[in-house]
Amino acid sequence: MNTLETAQQETFAMPRIGDKAPEFKAVTTQGEINYPSDYKGKWSILFSHPADFTPVCTSEFMTFAHLEEKFEKANCSLIGLSIDGLYGHIAWLRTIKDKIEFNGMKNIEVKFPLIEDISMEVAKKYGMIQPGESKTQAVRAVFFVDPNETVRAIMYYPLSLGRNFDELYRALIAMQTSDKFNVATPADWNPGDDVIVSPAGSCGVAEERMTSTEDLDCKDWFFCTKKLDKNLVLDTILKK
Ligand code: BEZ
Repeated sequence: MNTLETAQQETFAMPRIGDKAPEFKAVTTQGEINYPSDYKGKWSILFSHPADFTPVCTSEFMTFAHLEEKFEKANCSLIGLSIDGLYGHIAWLRTIKDKIEFNGMKNIEVKFPLIEDISMEVAKKYGMIQPGESKTQAVRAVFFVDPNETVRAIMYYPLSLGRNFDELYRALIAMQTSDKFNVATPADWNPGDDVIVSPAGSCGVAEERMTSTEDLDCKDWFFCTKKLDKNLVLDTILKK
């Protein structure tokens, strides 16, 4: 492989769902971090943004910082990244706190770490540089990493599109619910909605499902749901 091909492969390499989260050490606005080992036992969301001092990114950071406590209650830490330097990060976060008002939020202090990645080392490891969109800025990538350091979900948005943070939270709670209760979650699921029980793996179980008097609602043998109490979900997942 020639140097150009190696560089291209590096740029396009990205972890996939089910992979161990690639390791890195980085300087952040909250000191040095070793990822993902510093977060073992917790969920984390590693997300990139294109650049400091840009409007969509500012709106996203304010929203995420506003919701940080909510994510922490769900045992999930936030870690941001752009390929800007540390002093640019610090200046931007100070400006956000001192001057910017958005959607009723103001004096917003971003307390979670923001990684400096001028070398693009981390951005390349996580496939955050998508050259067709930008060769010099990271796209809006989101990696959900579970307490075992495994990548569980990945989202990618283009530069111009601000993310939906309610959806990030919903996805986090849904994955935790799947893990704790051994169920799957249907389209648009939110706590309190019915959940999906694992599909029948044999003809016998398929028959049982259709005739069961258990609390299952089977639309057909392969599609059975059951009730899962909202308070049970939230009490199990959220810290008191
Ligand atoms: C923004 O955050 O506003 C932005 C960043 C890069 C390209 C377009 C918009």
